[in-house]
Amino acid sequence: MDYDELTHRIHALADGETDIVALMATLACEVHHSHDRFDWTGFYRVTAPGLLKIGPYQGGHGCLSIPFDRGVCGAAARLGEAQIVDDVDAFPGHIACASSTRSELVLPVRNGAGDLIGVFDIDSNRPAAFSREDATALAKILEKVFARC
Ligand code: SME
Repeated sequence: MDYDELTHRIHALADGETDIVALMATLACEVHHSHDRFDWTGFYRVTAPGLLKIGPYQGGHGCLSIPFDRGVCGAAARLGEAQIVDDVDAFPGHIACASSTRSELVLPVRNGAGDLIGVFDIDSNRPAAFSREDATALAKILEKVFARC
């Protein structure tokens, strides 16, 4: 996976943009199409205390609301830390939006002030599809892109 190329492309496309939805939509699209192990790629936004709502995404239908105390997305939002789940069936409270999902990576998304504005969720139909390298490279992209929001 060539993260240098993906990073370069996203920064070029997002250059000067500060609209959160425009940025989320562009990231979801670019990341989703960067590798065929990414079967669902998108954002959940913090819309009320303790609540995530679906944002821009690519892939099949995603659940509309996720409270912070549910699922992998809720854990990433609640703990403010990346969640790498090799086997979703072994994750207590995992929300199965698609029964084909086997593994997940969820990253917290913060604005320039450091406030949590959402999470970035990638689901794969392959088991253990995500590594620390994925988490680190994608977190770096998210940090830079949403710093201006
Ligand atoms: N599986 C996620 C829910 C989001 S969807 O799969 C798109 C979770 O447990 O947080």
